[in-house]
Amino acid sequence: MHTTSNLRLSFDRFFAATERHRWELETDIPWAEVRPDLVTQDEVRVLRGSALVESFAPGYGADLLTTFAADVAMSSFLTIQLYEEFKHFHALRRYLHCLGIEVTDAEITQGRAERVAYDDPLVPLLKFGISEVFTAVAYREIARHTREPVLQKLSTCISDDEYRHLGWYVSYLEGYVNEHGIGAAEVNAALEHYQHQGLDAIGSEWVEHWNFVGERYTRLEPYRYLKRMLRGLVGSGVKLQNMGRRTSNFTGAQTFR
Ligand SMILES: [Fe+2]
Ligand SMILES: [Fe+2]
Repeated sequence: MHTTSNLRLSFDRFFAATERHRWELETDIPWAEVRPDLVTQDEVRVLRGSALVESFAPGYGADLLTTFAADVAMSSFLTIQLYEEFKHFHALRRYLHCLGIEVTDAEITQGRAERVAYDDPLVPLLKFGISEVFTAVAYREIARHTREPVLQKLSTCISDDEYRHLGWYVSYLEGYVNEHGIGAAEVNAALEHYQHQGLDAIGSEWVEHWNFVGERYTRLEPYRYLKRMLRGLVGSGVKLQNMGRRTSNFTGAQTFR
């Protein structure tokens, strides 16, 4: 008979897949072929916001590696995930540089010194796990919509990473809710804290950034996915109605705890 822990995606398998699908910043992205004339102002806006959100990886790392210090599997995964999120920032910054747009060190370090301590691990699991579906779909759709070939390639590489992260979180959550006997009520309570990542990174631009990404790229797909996934985990009592509201205006927005 299988136990939950047997079914959970092991770090060995996750890491093997990560190595197998790793893209090389210098050789897989043809930087010299970027065509600035094909990039729209709307794309620049989304890429700049996304770069800054990704740039917050060291700050999130400090918070999460503390929360999960005693959890070998999760802290192993986080180490790799945070490397990849920072790689996304580094690549997007370089892409913007090719367009003549600079992201400054001052922009990426503001807010990083603030630490967030999580009392209940379910809260960051949902915050960071759920975010993966929004970013995976957004980058996939940026790749699909843009006319600029290097951005198509880069966004596809990033989206593939985000889908792999999502796979880990879903598998981990499945084990976590079984192990701790977590039901829809606890998930709903944690979801009441949910908001997209990046409030700490982009502050006043946060609402506009995610609203624009939602309208232009992700639409309702992440919500449909999450409804199915979370109801599969803990049953039909899961409610997502407040999630969109919490993350599309400043009412109730605060650094997520
Ligand atoms: Fe990322
Ligand atoms: Fe990710």
